[in-house]
Amino acid sequence: MDPLDRLLANNREWAARMKKEHPGFFDALKDQQSPEYLWIGCSDSRVPANEIVGLLPGELFVHRTVANLVVPSDLNCVSVIQFAVDVLRVKHIIVCGHYGCSGVRAALREDEIGVADNWLMHVRHTRDRHEAELDGLGPDDARFRRLCEINVVEQVQNVAHTTPVQHAWRVGQELTIHGLIYGVEDGLLKDLGIRAASRTEVTEIRRRGKPEPG
Ligand code: CO
Repeated sequence: MDPLDRLLANNREWAARMKKEHPGFFDALKDQQSPEYLWIGCSDSRVPANEIVGLLPGELFVHRTVANLVVPSDLNCVSVIQFAVDVLRVKHIIVCGHYGCSGVRAALREDEIGVADNWLMHVRHTRDRHEAELDGLGPDDARFRRLCEINVVEQVQNVAHTTPVQHAWRVGQELTIHGLIYGVEDGLLKDLGIRAASRTEVTEIRRRGKPEPG
Protein backbone atom coordinates (compact mmCIF):
# COMPACT_ATOMS: atom_id res chain seq x y z
CA MET A 1 0.00 0.00 0.00
CA ASP A 2 1.32 3.42 -0.93
CA PRO A 3 2.07 5.45 2.21
CA LEU A 4 -0.14 8.25 0.89
CA ASP A 5 -3.17 6.06 0.18
CA ARG A 6 -4.66 6.56 3.62
CA LEU A 7 -4.26 10.33 3.37
CA LEU A 8 -5.84 10.51 -0.07
CA ALA A 9 -8.74 8.32 1.00
CA ASN A 10 -9.23 10.51 4.10
CA ASN A 11 -9.22 13.55 1.87
CA ARG A 12 -11.92 12.20 -0.42
CA GLU A 13 -14.09 11.40 2.59
CA TRP A 14 -13.49 14.83 4.11
CA ALA A 15 -14.31 16.68 0.87
CA ALA A 16 -17.50 14.66 0.45
CA ARG A 17 -18.53 15.30 4.06
CA MET A 18 -17.86 19.04 3.76
CA LYS A 19 -19.95 19.25 0.59
CA LYS A 20 -22.78 17.46 2.32
CA GLU A 21 -22.64 19.40 5.59
CA HIS A 22 -21.91 22.80 4.05
CA PRO A 23 -23.52 23.01 0.61
CA GLY A 24 -21.71 25.52 -1.65
CA PHE A 25 -18.72 25.65 0.71
CA PHE A 26 -15.97 25.07 -1.85
CA ASP A 27 -17.69 27.21 -4.49
CA ALA A 28 -17.67 30.14 -2.10
CA LEU A 29 -13.97 29.68 -1.35
CA LYS A 30 -12.63 29.08 -4.83
CA ASP A 31 -12.26 32.72 -5.82
CA GLN A 32 -11.44 34.43 -2.57
CA GLN A 33 -10.47 34.10 1.06
CA SER A 34 -11.33 36.63 3.74
CA PRO A 35 -9.94 35.39 7.05
CA GLU A 36 -10.12 37.68 10.07
CA TYR A 37 -7.13 36.09 11.75
CA LEU A 38 -3.49 35.45 11.04
CA TRP A 39 -2.18 32.59 13.16
CA ILE A 40 1.55 32.31 13.82
CA GLY A 41 2.27 29.05 15.60
CA CYS A 42 4.83 26.30 16.06
CA SER A 43 5.36 23.68 13.35
CA ASP A 44 4.76 20.98 15.98
CA SER A 45 2.37 18.30 14.67
CA ARG A 46 0.44 18.38 17.96
CA VAL A 47 -0.70 21.97 17.44
CA PRO A 48 -2.89 22.01 14.31
CA ALA A 49 -4.09 25.59 13.99
CA ASN A 50 -7.60 25.41 12.48
CA GLU A 51 -8.57 22.32 14.39
CA ILE A 52 -7.90 23.54 17.92
CA VAL A 53 -9.87 26.75 17.44
CA GLY A 54 -12.68 25.11 15.47
CA LEU A 55 -12.28 27.23 12.35
CA LEU A 56 -12.98 26.09 8.80
CA PRO A 57 -10.81 26.55 5.71
CA GLY A 58 -10.96 30.22 4.74
CA GLU A 59 -11.18 31.50 8.31
CA LEU A 60 -7.54 31.40 9.44
CA PHE A 61 -4.43 32.50 7.55
CA VAL A 62 -1.60 30.39 8.94
CA HIS A 63 2.16 30.58 9.29
CA ARG A 64 4.07 28.04 11.33
CA THR A 65 7.73 28.03 12.26
CA VAL A 66 9.92 26.06 14.64
CA ALA A 67 9.18 27.43 18.15
CA ASN A 68 6.72 29.95 16.64
CA LEU A 69 9.54 32.44 16.13
CA VAL A 70 9.04 35.71 14.31
CA VAL A 71 12.41 36.97 13.12
CA PRO A 72 12.47 40.32 11.28
CA SER A 73 15.04 39.05 8.75
CA ASP A 74 12.85 36.04 7.91
CA LEU A 75 11.48 37.18 4.55
CA ASN A 76 8.96 34.35 4.51
CA CYS A 77 7.38 35.29 7.82
CA VAL A 78 7.37 39.03 7.17
CA SER A 79 5.85 38.42 3.71
CA VAL A 80 3.07 36.39 5.31
CA ILE A 81 2.40 39.22 7.77
CA GLN A 82 2.43 41.81 5.00
CA PHE A 83 0.04 39.83 2.81
CA ALA A 84 -2.30 39.14 5.74
CA VAL A 85 -2.35 42.77 6.89
CA ASP A 86 -2.26 44.68 3.59
CA VAL A 87 -4.15 42.39 1.23
CA LEU A 88 -6.38 40.21 3.38
CA ARG A 89 -6.90 42.98 5.95
CA VAL A 90 -6.95 40.59 8.91
CA LYS A 91 -8.05 42.24 12.15
CA HIS A 92 -6.14 40.00 14.52
CA ILE A 93 -2.72 38.37 14.59
CA ILE A 94 -2.45 35.51 17.05
CA VAL A 95 0.95 34.29 18.17
CA CYS A 96 0.40 30.85 19.65
CA GLY A 97 3.12 29.02 21.55
CA HIS A 98 2.74 25.72 23.31
CA TYR A 99 3.98 24.01 26.44
CA GLY A 100 6.36 21.14 25.77
CA CYS A 101 7.87 22.90 22.74
CA SER A 102 10.93 20.92 21.61
CA GLY A 103 12.56 24.04 20.18
CA VAL A 104 12.23 25.92 23.46
CA ARG A 105 13.46 22.89 25.40
CA ALA A 106 16.54 22.56 23.18
CA ALA A 107 17.36 26.23 23.69
CA LEU A 108 16.87 25.97 27.45
CA ARG A 109 19.13 22.94 27.79
CA GLU A 110 21.58 24.02 25.10
CA ASP A 111 21.05 20.71 23.27
CA GLU A 112 22.93 20.32 20.02
CA ILE A 113 20.50 19.72 17.17
CA GLY A 114 22.25 20.98 14.06
CA VAL A 115 21.20 23.69 11.64
CA ALA A 116 18.16 24.49 13.79
CA ASP A 117 20.49 25.69 16.56
CA ASN A 118 21.01 28.84 14.51
CA TRP A 119 17.27 29.43 14.42
CA LEU A 120 16.85 28.58 18.10
CA MET A 121 19.57 31.07 18.98
CA HIS A 122 16.69 33.57 19.20
CA VAL A 123 15.13 31.54 22.02
CA ARG A 124 18.50 31.28 23.78
CA HIS A 125 18.77 35.06 23.69
CA THR A 126 15.29 35.31 25.20
CA ARG A 127 16.29 32.82 27.90
CA ASP A 128 19.39 34.88 28.70
CA ARG A 129 17.44 38.12 28.92
CA HIS A 130 15.04 36.55 31.43
CA GLU A 131 17.64 34.49 33.29
CA ALA A 132 16.92 35.98 36.73
CA GLU A 133 13.21 35.19 36.57
CA LEU A 134 13.76 31.71 35.14
CA ASP A 135 16.43 30.76 37.68
CA GLY A 136 14.10 31.80 40.48
CA LEU A 137 11.56 29.19 39.37
CA GLY A 138 13.61 26.23 40.53
CA PRO A 139 12.47 22.96 38.99
CA ASP A 140 13.22 22.43 35.33
CA ASP A 141 9.59 21.94 34.39
CA ALA A 142 8.51 25.32 35.79
CA ARG A 143 11.38 27.06 34.00
CA PHE A 144 10.53 25.27 30.78
CA ARG A 145 6.85 26.23 30.94
CA ARG A 146 7.69 29.83 31.77
CA LEU A 147 10.17 30.11 28.90
CA CYS A 148 7.47 28.81 26.53
CA GLU A 149 5.24 31.68 27.74
CA ILE A 150 7.95 34.35 27.64
CA ASN A 151 8.82 33.25 24.12
CA VAL A 152 5.26 34.07 23.04
CA VAL A 153 5.46 37.54 24.61
CA GLU A 154 8.72 38.18 22.75
CA GLN A 155 7.17 37.12 19.45
CA VAL A 156 4.16 39.38 19.99
CA GLN A 157 6.64 42.23 20.31
CA ASN A 158 8.53 41.09 17.22
CA VAL A 159 5.30 40.99 15.19
CA ALA A 160 4.46 44.46 16.46
CA HIS A 161 7.77 45.82 15.24
CA THR A 162 7.53 44.47 11.71
CA THR A 163 7.12 47.09 9.00
CA PRO A 164 3.63 45.97 7.84
CA VAL A 165 2.21 46.17 11.37
CA GLN A 166 3.89 49.49 12.15
CA HIS A 167 2.56 50.89 8.87
CA ALA A 168 -0.97 49.60 9.51
CA TRP A 169 -1.07 51.34 12.89
CA ARG A 170 0.39 54.53 11.44
CA VAL A 171 -2.44 54.78 8.91
CA GLY A 172 -5.10 53.90 11.47
CA GLN A 173 -5.86 50.34 10.35
CA GLU A 174 -7.56 48.28 13.02
CA LEU A 175 -5.19 45.47 14.01
CA THR A 176 -4.64 43.69 17.32
CA ILE A 177 -1.89 41.23 18.20
CA HIS A 178 -2.59 38.55 20.80
CA GLY A 179 -0.50 35.97 22.64
CA LEU A 180 -1.86 32.49 23.38
CA ILE A 181 -0.32 29.30 24.65
CA TYR A 182 -1.57 25.77 24.04
CA GLY A 183 -1.34 22.77 26.33
CA VAL A 184 -0.52 19.66 24.31
CA GLU A 185 -1.36 17.67 27.46
CA ASP A 186 -4.98 18.88 27.74
CA GLY A 187 -5.78 20.46 24.37
CA LEU A 188 -6.59 23.81 25.98
CA LEU A 189 -5.55 27.28 24.90
CA LYS A 190 -4.70 29.92 27.48
CA ASP A 191 -4.83 33.63 26.76
CA LEU A 192 -1.61 35.15 28.09
CA GLY A 193 -3.40 38.45 28.50
CA ILE A 194 -1.19 40.47 26.20
CA ARG A 195 -2.79 42.72 23.63
CA ALA A 196 -1.13 45.16 21.31
CA ALA A 197 -3.38 47.33 19.18
CA SER A 198 -1.11 50.36 18.91
CA ARG A 199 2.54 51.39 19.14
CA THR A 200 1.97 52.63 22.70
CA GLU A 201 0.70 49.26 23.87
CA VAL A 202 3.79 47.53 22.52
CA THR A 203 5.97 49.83 24.58
CA GLU A 204 3.85 48.98 27.62
CA ILE A 205 4.32 45.22 27.08
CA ARG A 206 8.06 45.70 26.81
CA ARG A 207 8.11 47.82 29.95
CA ARG A 208 6.17 45.25 31.97
CA GLY A 209 8.37 42.51 30.56
CA LYS A 210 5.87 39.79 31.33
CA PRO A 211 2.24 39.00 30.66
CA GLU A 212 -0.57 39.34 33.16
CA PRO A 213 -1.43 35.98 34.74
CA GLY A 214 -3.47 34.14 32.09
CO1 CO B 1 7.03 23.83 19.42
